[in-house]
Amino acid sequence: MKPMPVCAMRLDGKTMLITGAGSGIGRALAVACAEQGARLLLVGRRRAKLEETRALLARPEQAMLLAADVTQAADRRVMRNTIAETFGCLDVLVNNAGVLCVGPLHGADDDELEDLLATNLLAPMALTRDLLNLLRTAERPRIVNVGSVFGDIGHPQFAAYSATKFGLRGFSDAIRRELMAEGIGLTYVAPRATQTEAAHKFDHLVAPYAMAVDSAEVAAAQILSAIRRDARNSYARGPERFFVMLQRLFPGLIDQALGRKLPAV
Ligand SMILES: NC(=O)c1ccc[n+]([C@@H]2O[C@H](COP(=O)([O-])OP(=O)(O)OC[C@H]3O[C@@H](n4cnc5c(N)ncnc54)[C@H](OP(=O)(O)O)[C@@H]3O)[C@@H](O)[C@H]2O)c1
Repeated sequence: MKPMPVCAMRLDGKTMLITGAGSGIGRALAVACAEQGARLLLVGRRRAKLEETRALLARPEQAMLLAADVTQAADRRVMRNTIAETFGCLDVLVNNAGVLCVGPLHGADDDELEDLLATNLLAPMALTRDLLNLLRTAERPRIVNVGSVFGDIGHPQFAAYSATKFGLRGFSDAIRRELMAEGIGLTYVAPRATQTEAAHKFDHLVAPYAMAVDSAEVAAAQILSAIRRDARNSYARGPERFFVMLQRLFPGLIDQALGRKLPAV
């Protein structure tokens, strides 16, 4: 049987909202999507960081900036109204904004745990819901949720973070099935460890756990490629893909590999 012809999604002229676009993976993705001709709404809390991102774009006038907090309902309303008034519809929503919590669970206080859940899990759900009608009016709409390899492999020292990404992956599967009959696609992307602002929190764990670390540009290229292929999910290239399979089939092996006591650092 011949393979189905793949009709790559073109981003030229498409409207995209990228959350967490003021640094790291979100910034690199904004640069890559601008090169493809997308019209961007870049969201993050720090306007100065969004300005820095815009200065890197092929054509800075392709991007609107919105200093907003994805965890706040009022800010999400402003995002929705801005898209409705400026673009009229939304082709691609990228739920990328996220925070990290690293270290043994006993070191995380309630505020940190609540912020982690609010940003990494509740906000993508709420923003997806809030923007659904604008996605519905686009021709070939797509939601992109930026998860993590740690959303498949529960990783010690990242227990609460892993839990949020497991949740995001579950939400992604469920909402994909809920929306597919309407023609709204959903891509769940799982980058591996990536050198960004947030990643400095786990610099000390890279060597002990032998983590491979990508650049933000590599992670952004992974996301862009997944969007263009209408992929249902995308896992970082490298041994992590194999570990994800191993986790599904033989989780005890992953327990043994990751459950050992860390050497003192
Ligand atoms: N780095 C890694 O190793 C890695 C690996 C796999 C997946 N990821 C995922 O990739 C995504 C991007 O992370 P990153 O590594 O690029 O980190 P990053 O450089 O810290 O970027 C995260 C961005 O999210 C924004 N943000 C955080 N909370 C927000 C909120 N409440 N409202 C609006 N914006 C908010 C931050 O900007 P403001 O502070 O200005 O709001 C920041 O620009 C996250 O979902 C992360 O979990 C990262």
